Amino acid sequence: MTPPPSIIALDGPAASGKSTLGSKLADSLGYLFFDTGVMYRAITWIALQHDMNPRAETEITELAQKAQIDIRPPSIKDGRAYDVMIGEKDVTWAMRDSEVDANVSVISAYAGVRQALSEQQRRIGLRGQVVMVGRDIGTVVLPEADLKVYLEASAEERARRRYDEIIARGDKADYDDILKKVIERDHIDSTRAVAPLRPADDAVIIDSDKLDADQVFARVLELCK
Ligand code: DC
Repeated sequence: MTPPPSIIALDGPAASGKSTLGSKLADSLGYLFFDTGVMYRAITWIALQHDMNPRAETEITELAQKAQIDIRPPSIKDGRAYDVMIGEKDVTWAMRDSEVDANVSVISAYAGVRQALSEQQRRIGLRGQVVMVGRDIGTVVLPEADLKVYLEASAEERARRRYDEIIARGDKADYDDILKKVIERDHIDSTRAVAPLRPADDAVIIDSDKLDADQVFARVLELCK
């Protein structure tokens, strides 16, 4: 039997279901799950905490070069797939708040920020037995990945999933507002000069609009065989 692909790159736009799929896939293969969006979010969270202007590219780049972000196995059973630590502070949920959402695309468009974070991602990815999730894994971070999947879904479907998630947590949400933000983030992520969001030429594109999470998982597992 051929072994499954060792380096699996999973890219796609915001709320396309990459993290759910990636973590399930990594579990089933016994691989490391690495959600690279966490690193961009962590830098954004630190910048906001320090009242830095997200438009201050030089300062934010220096921050990305120095920041000590640690991703560890989950210490609490509250739905998290990992702990994200900055020093001794657990920011796993804080870095998913709306203020981070609103600023992370701007910060992740900076070339210096991308270089600092991509280098770390690449070093970890090259060890193999990894499912790495992001926007540019198949195109820039690990172009040699053995399997590249690009997960697509319409902005409306992605906004609906995000909306359902927030409501399920017992929080308030406004669908139109979520949709507007999803479209804004797509625009920034796919038009930035460095490493824009796009499928690699050799990626398998899966449109999840008409597939549920289990069907997408089954399709990717099939590709791993
Ligand atoms: O996947 P996410 O929503 O947690 O990602 C947060 C932001 O980080 C997203 O707006 C784009 C950016 N990102 C990126 O530019 N490159 C990656 N490899 C991962 C995320």
